[in-house]
Amino acid sequence: MGDVFLEALELVRFRNYSRAKFHFGPEGATIVGRNGSGKSNLLESISFLALGKSIRGAPDSEVAMDGGDGFGIYAKFGGEDEFRISVVYSRGRGKRMNVDDHPLRRISELLGKFQVVSFSPEEVHLLLRSPAGRRRLLDMLLSQVGGYVWYWQRYRRALLHRNRLLSEGKVSRRELKPWDLQIVKFGSEIVRRRKEFVCWMEEKVKTFYEVLSGGEDLAVLYSPSFPADGDILERFVESLGESTEQERRLGCTVVGPHRDDLSVRIGGRDLRMASQGQAKSFLLAWKLGEALFFYERSGRRPALLMDEVFSDLDSERSKALAGFLIGKGQCFVTAISEGEVPGPIRNLRVIEVGDGRCVP
Ligand SMILES: Nc1ncnc2c1ncn2[C@@H]1O[C@H](COP(=O)(O)OP(=O)(O)OP(=O)(O)O)[C@@H](O)[C@H]1O
Ligand SMILES: [Mg+2]
Repeated sequence: MGDVFLEALELVRFRNYSRAKFHFGPEGATIVGRNGSGKSNLLESISFLALGKSIRGAPDSEVAMDGGDGFGIYAKFGGEDEFRISVVYSRGRGKRMNVDDHPLRRISELLGKFQVVSFSPEEVHLLLRSPAGRRRLLDMLLSQVGGYVWYWQRYRRALLHRNRLLSEGKVSRRELKPWDLQIVKFGSEIVRRRKEFVCWMEEKVKTFYEVLSGGEDLAVLYSPSFPADGDILERFVESLGESTEQERRLGCTVVGPHRDDLSVRIGGRDLRMASQGQAKSFLLAWKLGEALFFYERSGRRPALLMDEVFSDLDSERSKALAGFLIGKGQCFVTAISEGEVPGPIRNLRVIEVGDGRCVP
């Protein structure tokens, strides 16, 4: 499958854009503008076309201009495949999405049509500083790949029931049994997919990081809550059996994918010790790995939505990063001014935004 690219985008009452139109080439654009001019908002609107929702996790009502009645995002794609996607939200009727003139019944029908990998500086903190954030890092990509969400939803539901029983105190093994079976069945599939994914990512992320940092060593390891080798389902059953006492004491389920973590070591030290620039470089290396993952699976390069990637990276790291971004599909980069972006990125078309519109 060849690449597709976002060719035209129209925003109507989306965040600070009352009505704005943009045209992009297959290589993407550098989006420049002052603080608060709408650069991140523009990238966020593009994420709706891939995920059907905000990559920042904002509810639909919040992205409608001034909390108003709704918004519209209309896009035309070109390249190997030509199609249109629209996402229209209104307070009364909810969100409606169309591919060409075909209405979609659920978000899953949209996934895969147009894929994005995004980076924003807030994520460095949100995703790297806690186990929950690092689990999200695992799930963000896996959720866009066949069936993962289905397993998660069932796992979560069973986990909630099981935790409710445990928190109520005296509960018999017999009462827990049906929920044990469910969390083990759905949970072991989540663990299996995460393990496989990190195993695939390990070497790629390490290589990206080494180039970005000029030779610093990186190690990434999946760190599940129970020893997930051999038959994962069996191991989960065993660990659940062994944690009975602890569960009763704490009143909740203590093993399972909701307790997984990702262990990251930079230059031999835990990620907690990493500097801002090192943590940011790791997240960027991870995102480049995600882009490669999409490409290997689907033969299509995702669009890269790179918000403020060059600020607080030293010039060597910036240059190395630019090398990875250019010529790898459509790339959107934001900056306060054109001067901020390193050499190769200057070949991208510059689009200036201000006051909620595209400055001609
Ligand atoms: N729902 C909304 N309706 C109207 N305006 C909004 C809405 N949400 C955010 N804004 C406005 O959008 C602007 C922020 O836009 P954005 O975050 O895209 O800026 P930016 O260009 O990325 O700035 P920075 O360089 O500081 O990151 C703010 O002025 C904010 O008030
Ligand atoms: Mg911004």
